[in-house]
Amino acid sequence: GSFSANSGKRSQNARLAPLHTLARKYNTPVYVYSADQIVARVRMFARAFQEIPHLVCYSVKANSTLAILKLIDQQDAGFDIVSGGELERVLTLGKKAAHRVVFSGVGKTAVELDLALRSDILIFNVESEAEIELLAERARKLRIQAKIALRVNPDVFAETHPYISTGLREHKFGIDIRKARAVYRAAAKFRYLDPCGVSVHIGSQIRSAEPFGAAISRVVDLVVQLRRDGLNIRYVDAGGGLGIDYHANAGTAGLGGSFDAEAHVHAYAKTLSEPLQQLEGNVTLLLEPGRFLVAQAGLLLTRVLYVKKNGKKTFVITDAGMNDLIRPALYHAHHEIVPIEPRPGRKRLVDVVGPVCETGDFFARDRLLPELRAGDLVAILDAGAYGNSLSSNYNSRPRPAEVLIEGRHTRLIRRRETIQDLIRPELEV
Ligand code: LLP
Repeated sequence: GSFSANSGKRSQNARLAPLHTLARKYNTPVYVYSADQIVARVRMFARAFQEIPHLVCYSVKANSTLAILKLIDQQDAGFDIVSGGELERVLTLGKKAAHRVVFSGVGKTAVELDLALRSDILIFNVESEAEIELLAERARKLRIQAKIALRVNPDVFAETHPYISTGLREHKFGIDIRKARAVYRAAAKFRYLDPCGVSVHIGSQIRSAEPFGAAISRVVDLVVQLRRDGLNIRYVDAGGGLGIDYHANAGTAGLGGSFDAEAHVHAYAKTLSEPLQQLEGNVTLLLEPGRFLVAQAGLLLTRVLYVKKNGKKTFVITDAGMNDLIRPALYHAHHEIVPIEPRPGRKRLVDVVGPVCETGDFFARDRLLPELRAGDLVAILDAGAYGNSLSSNYNSRPRPAEVLIEGRHTRLIRRRETIQDLIRPELEV
C-alpha cells in the first residue's frame, strides 16, 4: 500500500495500476495517501527516541485531515496545534487525545485559550509576555491550572527557505532567549500558571543536524539556570522542522527512493539527546514533527488537460493548480512529477502548470519528462505535507478529494468539495 521508498520490489505497473482505478473512481485532482507509510514513519520516529522519555506531538498543520490524525493517534502520539480549529479536529478523536496536545502559535485568542484550558491540554507554548497575561487571566477566571512553556527564540540560523525559517531574533516567533529568565520569573507569580517547560522551533525543512544541536544546547543552558532559579522545569520541546529529500524519488518513477529516512531521524535524535544528558533525566522531550511523518506518504494525482506551445516553451496544463498545492509557487519548492504510464522515447523539456490565472501557478519549470499528452495521469510526489492543508478555493476551485490506501483497500477520507460548499456561506446571509 505504499508508493515511495523501501516498499519492496513489485513491478512498477502493478503498483501504478491502482492509481488509474483511483482516478476513475474518485476523479482528479485527488490526494492519495499511504496509511502504511505514515504509520511506519511515526514508529520510526518514536524508535529513534526510545532511549529518552519523550512524546511525539504530530504537527497538525502539515496535514489535518481527520483520518490521518486518527492513524497517528492510534500510534499513541500527541499533537502540536496552532488554532482552536486544529484543537477541534483533535477533539474529534476523543477527549483523551487533548491531554497530549501542545498549543503553539503567536496569536492565540481568548476563545482559543479557553477551549484549550477546558480541554485540559498538556502544555501551552507561550510566545509573548502579553499572551502570558491573557492566559493567566483566562485560567484564573476558569480556575484551571495551565502548564506553560515559553517558546524561546534562540537566534540560530537554519538553512532553509526564508519563509519557513523561524529561529532568528528578527523573526516574529518566540521570546528572545536573553530575556527569558526574567519572563519566567514574572510568569511564576501567577497562581494559575505553572511554568514547567521550555520550547523552541527554528524552522522547517531543515536538512542538517547542526542548527538543531545549537538550539537545543541553548535551551538546555536556560533550563539549568531556570532550575537554579527554583523553577520545576520538566519539559523540553524541540519543535519540528526535520526535513526530507524531495529529490529522493528522482528517476525512480517515484517508487524506489534513496532517502534514508531512518538514518536521518537517528542522527537527529542523537543531536538532540546529547545536550539533554546535562539535565540528568527529570525531563520529557516533546517533539513536533509534521513534514517528516506525512510528506512522503502522499501524492497529488492529476490529469493532463492540454499540452500547448508558446514560442519555445511547452506547457503541460494539469487539472490540479496552485490552489491545490501551493508549495512550488510559494517556496519554489521542488516536487518530483511522475507520469503514471511513461511513454518511451525522447524526453521533453516542459513546464507543468495549473489552470489558475497566475503566472506563479506552476508545479515544475523546465523539467525533463517523458512525452505527455492530454488525458495522461501524472503524480506529483511528496505532497502529503502542506498540500491539502495549505490549499484554497482561489478561482472558485473546489478542493480535491482525499483517499487513503490501507493495505489492499482504499477509502475516501474527504470528499471532493462542491461549488455548493463554496457558495453556501454567501447564500446564507
Ligand atoms: N512546530 C511549530 C511551532 C511549527 O511552526 C511547525 C511548522 C512545526 C512544528 C512542524 O514543522 P515540520 O516538522 O513540518 O517542518 N508550509 C511550509 C512549512 C511551514 C512550517 C510551519 N511550521 C512548507 O510547505 O514547506
